[in-house]
Amino acid sequence: FGDRVLAGLSVVVSAGPTYEDIDPVRFIGNRSSGKMGFAVAEAAARAGAQVTLVAGPVTLATPHGIGKRIDVRSAAQMHAAVADAATQADIYIGAAAVGDYRPNTVAEHKLKKQHGTDLTLQLAENPDILASLSSRQGHPFLVGFAAETQNVESYARDKLQRKGLDMIAANQVGDGMGFETADNAITLYWADGSAELARADKAVLARQLVEHIAKRYKAVRG
Ligand code: C5P
Repeated sequence: FGDRVLAGLSVVVSAGPTYEDIDPVRFIGNRSSGKMGFAVAEAAARAGAQVTLVAGPVTLATPHGIGKRIDVRSAAQMHAAVADAATQADIYIGAAAVGDYRPNTVAEHKLKKQHGTDLTLQLAENPDILASLSSRQGHPFLVGFAAETQNVESYARDKLQRKGLDMIAANQVGDGMGFETADNAITLYWADGSAELARADKAVLARQLVEHIAKRYKAVRG
C-alpha cells in the first residue's frame, strides 16, 4: 500500500457515536467505538489525503497523519462541524453512528425519580448529516456506512439512493463483527457495481476501502 491514491485530496471523516443529553448526568448513546472511522481516517492520511476527523465521544488516540481533529458530542454538533469542514472537502466519509433522535429538551437539573410511574421521553428527529450534504451544490464525493442486522443489500442500496450517496459500505452487525469489535466484513455498493471486502481487521479493511473510494472518485470526478 505504498500508493498515495488520495494525494492532493481533502477528506473529512466522521467517526464514533453521538451522545444526546437528557439531563446533566444522562444521555442516549449507542455502541459505536469509533474504531472503523479512525482506521479509515488513518488509511486516508496514509494514502496522501489531507484529513479532518470529526469524532464523537470516543476514547481513541488521534491516528498518525491526521491534519485536524474536531471532538463533538451530539448529532447537532457533529452536523455543524461536518457542514463547515465539508465545504472545502473533496470526499466525505460518514462513518459515525449518528443518533437518529435527541430528547426534545435537555433538563437543566438532574431528573428526579417519580416512584410508581412510567417516564416518557419526547424525542425530536436529528438532521441526516449525509443527506443534508448531498443536497448542496458542488458537494463532496459522499461515502456512507450502513450497519444492518438483516437484509443488508436492500437496505444499503436504498440508503445509497435515498441519501444521494456515491458509495456505501455495508456490514452485518453481529457474529462477533461490527460495533465494539476489531474485525469487520464489508460489502461496498455504488450505482452500478459492488465489491466484497472479506472479514479482516478494521485497519486492513480501511485500506481496501480507501483504495475503492479513490478508484471510484477518479472514475466519476477525476
Ligand atoms: O440511516 P442510517 O443511520 O443507517 O445511515 C447510516 C449512514 O448515514 C452513516 O454513514 C451515518 O454516518 C449517516 N447518518 C448521518 N446522519 C444521521 C444518521 C445517519 O449522516 N442523522
